[in-house]
Amino acid sequence: MENLRFEKRAELKQKPTDESSLGFGKLTTDYMLAINYTGAKGWHDARIVPYGPLSLDPATSSLHYGQLIFEGLKAYKTGGGEIVMFRPRENIKRMNTGLERLCIPTLDEDFTLDAIRELVNTERGWIPSGDGTSLYIRPFILATDPVLGVTASDSYLFLTILSPVGSYYKEGMSPVRIFVEDKYTRAGAGGTGYAKCAGNYAGTMLAQKLAAANGYAQVMWLDGKERRYVEEIGTSNAFFVISGEVITPPTSETILAGITRKSSVELLRSLGYTVTERPITTDEVYDAYKAGRLDEAFATGTAAVVSPIGELGWKDEVMKLTGGKIGKVAQTLYDELTGIQLCKKADPFGWVYRV
Ligand code: COI
Repeated sequence: MENLRFEKRAELKQKPTDESSLGFGKLTTDYMLAINYTGAKGWHDARIVPYGPLSLDPATSSLHYGQLIFEGLKAYKTGGGEIVMFRPRENIKRMNTGLERLCIPTLDEDFTLDAIRELVNTERGWIPSGDGTSLYIRPFILATDPVLGVTASDSYLFLTILSPVGSYYKEGMSPVRIFVEDKYTRAGAGGTGYAKCAGNYAGTMLAQKLAAANGYAQVMWLDGKERRYVEEIGTSNAFFVISGEVITPPTSETILAGITRKSSVELLRSLGYTVTERPITTDEVYDAYKAGRLDEAFATGTAAVVSPIGELGWKDEVMKLTGGKIGKVAQTLYDELTGIQLCKKADPFGWVYRV
């Protein structure tokens, strides 16, 4: 690719030998992509360079005020040895939406996609091929002005790092315990909930830690105003199946527009399921559970893929779903989605991007 320089690493890292114990985000590869921005030059100096520590002025504004947006997408090695990514352009579009909200200059979609593809191609030897494994791609942009005043920076650094991963949850593709969080919330009207900005995640860690102390893998977030409407689950989107109908909250200014969520809605509809995007309250979920109509619940996300919910803790109740097994809709969705991602199944939607 023109305008992308390459700086060779003196010594390569040791690649993992046991793909079954990768976990999530523990390892990084040999190279990263970097692009700088200044008001005077725009985005410039795109390069693939050895992965390594950054040198930042301690006054770097993003370290203080969180002017930082990130993304998450995956590359896969198919059974035929091809390298593919899943809907990467969608991630760049979503990143641009978040960048606008945080007053960060947007990216050129084509150039960014080409540059990420080039990085993935450089690091193809790091892409695992075991069941449930992939190469997680983490693009992010941070403000780099060394200024303590609270204003949008004039300089930025775009980076993309790569991590060979297995399952996000230690449980793998098996039912997880989720706690309905009705004290802390992650987003409010007019805020940044829909953007993948670092601060949104910092604010979730206390609730996550408290839930984990009670044996829960993640929390289910409710709306910030009434604590009644389901918004998200941990770092993923929420789905319920009630009397055969699949229901997911509509995306909004407080909900991240998940690409796996959007793909799941389309995919399930194409398989003949009725999928309704509408607000759903915890009361409705509980009433359906009590009436024996809550068939299953699951979460979708790039990292989480499709995570079935085995137990849903709400106030003093624990709703036990699908007898601790993976629900039928979650399993079907997982099989179909990963089938497309790994080119084991036809891709009528054109979602697979060949590297
Ligand atoms: C993803 O699914 O890509 C996410 O962003 C989750 C991440 C925060 C671990």
